[in-house]
Amino acid sequence: MAYLKPDKPEKVYVPALRAAKEKGEKLTCLTAYDYPTARIVDEAGVEIILVGDSMGNVIHGYGNTIPVTLDEICSATKAVKRGASRALIVSDMPYGSFHTGDDDAVRNALRLMKDGGAEAIKLEGGRNRVGLVKRLVDEEIPVMAHVGLTPQSVHKMGGYRVQGKTAEAAKTLIEDAKLLEEAGAFAIVLELVPREVAEMITNELTISTVGIGAGAACDVQVLVLHDLIGFTFGRQPRFVRQYANVSDVITKAITQWMDDVRSGNYPSEAESYGLPEDVKLTAPKTAKQS
Ligand code: KIV
Repeated sequence: MAYLKPDKPEKVYVPALRAAKEKGEKLTCLTAYDYPTARIVDEAGVEIILVGDSMGNVIHGYGNTIPVTLDEICSATKAVKRGASRALIVSDMPYGSFHTGDDDAVRNALRLMKDGGAEAIKLEGGRNRVGLVKRLVDEEIPVMAHVGLTPQSVHKMGGYRVQGKTAEAAKTLIEDAKLLEEAGAFAIVLELVPREVAEMITNELTISTVGIGAGAACDVQVLVLHDLIGFTFGRQPRFVRQYANVSDVITKAITQWMDDVRSGNYPSEAESYGLPEDVKLTAPKTAKQS
């Protein structure tokens, strides 16, 4: 029996994360929700693409991640899958997709993998999700866990704040991370936690930590692409380093185009089509003229 060759020889699979951690190599992860950004992120060499429910904030304008649906994540994952051939594709389990029982969660995760083309799923939660993580892993579904600030709990938490700031809260976070590792998660997102806590978790675990607002010690750094390229609105959290201002680039391009249209400078002859030389154009006669 012939085995299919991987899409690319250097395709990133789940075990690559552990190998990188063992060698002390830092990996990168960015979000993408569509074909063009997935292609750009993949071709740039980012190892992991997260089809995150942050799409609720950055592309749907919901204001938070709560309304994001499984259909939205699944459709975005399909587009990302078409655009990325090397990066590991991880899809977020949106709010409500894993809360109504383990069987529902498995069904929804399988949908992201079978229909969407996800290669792993991510879900938010600490010790309360340990049983579910075990079940998903038993069903051959690779799981990235997510602790610290879990934006799907925004209403319970009462806002987006740094988590694990007291000795007690830090201890709980570290315990949660260990329990999730024991449950079989292959990586764990640490969002908005003090760098000392993230460093301790990173040192204690054999699986990779994926940090966002969690300091430099994490094995992988993740950012929302739209934040990194300046394609968002409003104030950014302090951990965001903006490397470009894409909103500005788009606004300038649109403004120039509008000016050109209004001044008659667009479209030029070269940007339109002419008749072949031997075709003579005669205006049709109106009913009155004939
Ligand atoms: O949805 C998302 O993009 C995330 C990252 C911020 C980790 O969960």
